[in-house]
Amino acid sequence: MKVSALAVAQVGLLNVLPATAEYVWPSKHDAMEDLLVLQGGYIREGFIDGITPCTRNPSAPGRQTAAEWIRTAFHDMATFDNATGVGGLDASIQFETGRAENAGDAFNGTFGFTNNYYSIRTSAADLIALSTVLAVGNCGGPKIPLRVGRVDATEGGVLGVPEPQQDLDTHKKMFAKAGFSTEDMIAMVACGHTMGGVHGKTFPEITENNTESNVVHFDSTEATFDPKVATEYLDGTTQNPLVVAHNDTLNSDKRIFAADNNVTMKALASDPKTFQSMCADIFERMIDTVPSTVTLTEPLEPTPLKPYIISFTLTNATHITLTGRIRLLTSSDRSEDERVTLTYTPRTAPAGNSTLNTTIATDPASFKSGLSNGIFGELFKWHEFSLALPVSTSIKSFTATVTRVSTGATTQYDNAGHGYPLDDTVLYQDRQSCRIDNDATIVAAVRKSVNASVVAKVARKFPKQGTLVPGIEVEEWKGTVGEEVGDYKLVTMKGQQLPETYSTQFDIVAGDSSVEYLDTNVLGSKDCQAF
Ligand code: HEM
Ligand SMILES: *[C@@H]1O[C@H](CO)[C@@H](O)[C@H](O)[C@H]1NC(C)=O
Ligand SMILES: *[C@@H]1O[C@H](CO)[C@@H](O)[C@H](O)[C@H]1NC(C)=O
Ligand SMILES: *[C@@H]1O[C@H](CO)[C@@H](O)[C@H](O)[C@H]1NC(C)=O
Ligand SMILES: *[C@@H]1O[C@H](CO)[C@@H](O)[C@H](O)[C@H]1NC(C)=O
Ligand SMILES: *[C@@H]1O[C@H](CO)[C@@H](O)[C@H](O)[C@H]1NC(C)=O
Ligand SMILES: *[C@@H]1O[C@H](CO)[C@@H](O)[C@H](O)[C@H]1NC(C)=O
Ligand SMILES: *[C@@H]1O[C@H](CO)[C@@H](O)[C@H](O)[C@H]1NC(C)=O
Ligand SMILES: *[C@@H]1O[C@H](CO)[C@@H](O)[C@H](O)[C@H]1NC(C)=O
Ligand SMILES: *[C@@H]1O[C@H](CO)[C@@H](O)[C@H](O)[C@H]1NC(C)=O
Repeated sequence: MKVSALAVAQVGLLNVLPATAEYVWPSKHDAMEDLLVLQGGYIREGFIDGITPCTRNPSAPGRQTAAEWIRTAFHDMATFDNATGVGGLDASIQFETGRAENAGDAFNGTFGFTNNYYSIRTSAADLIALSTVLAVGNCGGPKIPLRVGRVDATEGGVLGVPEPQQDLDTHKKMFAKAGFSTEDMIAMVACGHTMGGVHGKTFPEITENNTESNVVHFDSTEATFDPKVATEYLDGTTQNPLVVAHNDTLNSDKRIFAADNNVTMKALASDPKTFQSMCADIFERMIDTVPSTVTLTEPLEPTPLKPYIISFTLTNATHITLTGRIRLLTSSDRSEDERVTLTYTPRTAPAGNSTLNTTIATDPASFKSGLSNGIFGELFKWHEFSLALPVSTSIKSFTATVTRVSTGATTQYDNAGHGYPLDDTVLYQDRQSCRIDNDATIVAAVRKSVNASVVAKVARKFPKQGTLVPGIEVEEWKGTVGEEVGDYKLVTMKGQQLPETYSTQFDIVAGDSSVEYLDTNVLGSKDCQAF
C-alpha cells in the first residue's frame, strides 16, 4: 500500500478495511456493493424488500421467501465437483427447475425477484449469494462475508442434489464430492433448516397433508435464524418433519444430525453465538463454492466514501455540467456534523496566470434526512453537488475533504492515492438522447481530438427457453459523427427495441475512453432535443 501524508489521516478508516482490499473507484463491483448496503432511506436499492417480512411471502400462502433464497443457494451449489472444479454456485439451477431433486417453488421464486437486479455487472450467481447473505442477516442471523465475481452457467449441470429418501452414506458421499466433511454436512443442513419447512404440496409423503398451503416447519421459530433447530432436536421436542416423519426412510435430518454422534449438533446448540459463528462459517464456504475458473473478490465492505455521477455532460460550446452525489459512511452521532468539499484537478491548466477556483461545494441532502442504511449497521449520508466547468480547463479528478463542523477536524479521501478520476473525452448527452417506441438514440459528445470510432455497447437482454433468467448479449451500435460544438463533436448511435421489461445498461466507448453502465431507462420515453 502506498503510504502518503493522506494515509495518516485515514488510519481510523483503514482499521476497518481488510488490508488486501483497498477499494479504488470506480469499480466493476460498485453495483453489487450498492445492492448489499443500500437497503433503506433516501437512496436505496431495497433488495431486502423481497424478504420483508421474514415470516412469509405476502402474496403466496405457505411460502417463505427468506427460506426459499437459502434453499436456492444450496441446491445450486450442491452438485459441485471438488475434484474437477466444475459446478458450484453458478446459477445453473435456473435450467434445472424441472428436476425431481429440485421440486418446489423456491427456485423460480428466487429468480423472479433477483431478475429485478440482474445485469451485466450483477450475475445471477452473485445475486443468489447476496440473497443468502441478506436472508440470513435480515432474519436474525450472522453477517456472512460476501465475495463477488461469480459467473453464470449457460446450461444445466450434472444431477446430484441430496433427497430425503437417500441413505446417510449417499449423503456423505454427495457432500464429500462437493468438498465438505461429515461435520460440514451436519452444520450446513442444520443451519439451512433453521428457516422454513416442508410443503405438503411438494412432499405430501413427508407432511402427510397435501393441502396447497400446508407447511410443516423445521423448528418452532421458522422465521428466525436461531439454534432452535438444534436445541429442539436434542431435547426431543422437535417437530422437524425430516426427523419425525412416520416413514423413517424420509428422515434424512435425523440420520444426518446423528452422523457424528450428535457432536456437531451439541456444538450448534451450545449457545446462540456459537450457532451464529458456525453457520456464518459454513454458509460462507457454501456460497464461495464456485467453479475453479472463477476468482472471487475479497469480501465487500461498505466503501467509506463513494461518488455517484448523475450527469457529466456538455451544456454548450464553453461549459460542461457536472452533477453528482457523495455517499459518506457515517454514524448517527456525527452524520449532521460532517460537511464534504471536493477539490478538483483541471484537465488543462488555466491559460496565462489566471487562477481557477478548484473547490466544489456540496450540500447535505435533506429529503429523508439524506440518510441511507444497510442491515448490518451501515449508515450513509449523501452530499450533493452540481456545477458548470469551463471546457477549456475542465476536470481530470477530484479529492474529498470531510470536515467535522464542531471541531474543524478534517479527513482527506483520495481514492487510495489515485484521486477520483473523471474522463471528459466522451460525455453522455442525455438531452439529445431518447427513445421513441422501440427506436433508441444515444448521443455522445466526444473530444474532436479523438480519432477512434465511437460505439455504444448495449447489454441487450433476451428471453431464454427453460429459464426465467434472460440472456445478455452485448450489441454494438456504431456512431455517426454529426455537428461540432466547440472542442467536441456530437456522435449519434441508434438501435432498436429496448422494451421496459428488459431495461438494461450500455457503455459508450471511444478508444481508451468510455462512459460505462448507463441505464437504458435514462433514454426515457421522450423526444430527442437538438443541441
Ligand atoms: C441432505 C441434505 C438435504 C435434504 C435431503 C434436504 C431436504 C429438504 C426438503 C425435502 C425440504 C422441503 C422443501 C419444500 O417442501 O419446499 C427442504 C427445505 C429447505 N431446505 Fe433442505 N435439505 C438438505 C440440505 C439443506 C441445506 C444444506 C440447506 C441450506 C444450507 C437447506 C435449506 C433448506 C431450506 C431453507 C428449506 C426451506 C424452504 C422453504 O421453506 O421454502 N437444505 N430441504
Ligand atoms: C478440494 O479440492 C482441492 C483442490 O483440488 C483440494 O486441495 C481439497 O483438499 C479438496 N477438498 C476436499 C474436502 O476434498
Ligand atoms: C392440512 O394442512 C392444512 C393447512 O396447513 C390444515 O389447515 C389442515 O388442518 C391439515 N389437515 C390435517 C388433517 O392435519
Ligand atoms: C442424538 O440425539 C438424538 C436426539 O436427542 C437422540 O435421539 C440420539 O439417540 C442421539 N444419538 C447419539 C448417537 O447420541
Ligand atoms: C417410505 O418412503 C420410501 C421412499 O419414498 C418408499 O419407497 C416407501 O414405500 C415408503 N414406505 C411406506 C410404508 O410408505
Ligand atoms: C454556457 O453554459 C454556462 C453554464 O451553464 C453558462 O454560464 C453560459 O452562459 C452558457 N453560454 C452560453 C453562450 O449560453
Ligand atoms: C501574470 O502575467 C503577467 C504578464 O505575463 C506578469 O506580468 C505577472 O507578473 C504575472 N503574475 C503572476 C502572479 O505570475
Ligand atoms: C470557490 O468555490 C467555492 C465553492 O463554490 C466557494 O465556496 C468559495 O468561496 C470559492 N472561493 C473563492 C476564493 O472564490
Ligand atoms: C485517424 O484515423 C485514420 C484512419 O484510421 C488515419 O488514417 C489517420 O492517420 C488518423 N489520424 C490521427 C491523427 O491519428
Ligand atoms: C421456471 O420458469 C421457467 C421459465 O419460465 C420454466 O421453463 C420452468 O418450467 C419453470 N419451472 C417450474 C418448476 O415451474
